Amino acid sequence: MASSPKPRADPDASAGAAPLLEWFDARQRDDIAWRGERDPYAILVAEVMAQQTRVETAVPYHRRFMDRFPDVQTLAEAEEDEVLSLWEGLGYYARARNLRRAARRVVSEFDGRIPHAVSELRKLPGVGPYTAGAVASVAFGLSEPAVDGNARRVLSRLGDLETASPSALDRAARTLLGEAPERPGDVNQALMDLGSGVCTPRRPRCGACPLSNRCLALRRGTIGLRPPRKRRARSPERVEAAAVVRRGGRVLVLRRPSDGLLGGLWDFPSVALSSPTLPAPALARVLREGLRLDCRVGEEIRVLRHTFSHFRLRLVVHWARWRSGEVTERQHRWVGRGEFGDLAFPVYLRRLIDEDVSPRKAR
Ligand code: ADE
Repeated sequence: MASSPKPRADPDASAGAAPLLEWFDARQRDDIAWRGERDPYAILVAEVMAQQTRVETAVPYHRRFMDRFPDVQTLAEAEEDEVLSLWEGLGYYARARNLRRAARRVVSEFDGRIPHAVSELRKLPGVGPYTAGAVASVAFGLSEPAVDGNARRVLSRLGDLETASPSALDRAARTLLGEAPERPGDVNQALMDLGSGVCTPRRPRCGACPLSNRCLALRRGTIGLRPPRKRRARSPERVEAAAVVRRGGRVLVLRRPSDGLLGGLWDFPSVALSSPTLPAPALARVLREGLRLDCRVGEEIRVLRHTFSHFRLRLVVHWARWRSGEVTERQHRWVGRGEFGDLAFPVYLRRLIDEDVSPRKAR
């Protein structure tokens, strides 16, 4: 009887969890403060901070945040202002407000314990599929995918996924997770680390990749096409003017409405400018009509620029001097020199505040 050739075990038939974890173990990033963390609350805070922010940037914020709000009860009881001021500079401030609301819900509905299941985690404000999967897998050892932008790139190259749709990425992640059921959190984090350090958007270092001999895109020469790029038009520019209104030794700041852009942060009175409008008269008008203040608007201090996810801001800032009137309709404060550090401002205002509005005493 002719014997058919024995099927040989193909060393590359697996999706690659074993070499991925071997790589991860060999280069555990000790710069990520929360690695090795077992406290689900600390992990939730870390994962919320690391959304839309580089891990390296989030680490010192995480340390300060945990020092001030060491557990979910403390955060639930905190004033929103204080939470925002610890978030100042991280951007996307809705994350901070949602995290505080999530802590309140954990206390009121989950008896102070972070829930395990993705379906329950998703009920917390600000917790989407990525964060829920990260907390479920890292904190509770559940085999749930957590696909951030870095993991998305790795998975779409590994399987040469043309569309990189959420369902295709979910399947690819679950295949890897299924190969290492005892280490789902590490599989997810290894994918993210691989994407941030090796499988980078441009010039990936495929020679250093533990999955290169399994990578379909590498084999087919489609690395540069995966994942497909989302085409984005250059975002529009918004021009605004702001006034630093002085009254004696104090300066007027207004609280931004809590539900909008940079909600809950403090800011200077400002006005949107359409192109032919001059900043000074527009500011005088908005101070008079919007805030009931009679002010003399003075010279320009500086022009600030900041890029948001959906527009670019150009902010022309002027000095102004209060003459009469009181603000009644808006939450406001007249703040003295030493008080600026107690309030959270959008990060693009910090230099203006530190160098022009409230400079520290010359050394
Ligand atoms: N990005 C967000 N969370 C992360 C984590 N836990 N590890 C690596 N990168 C991340």
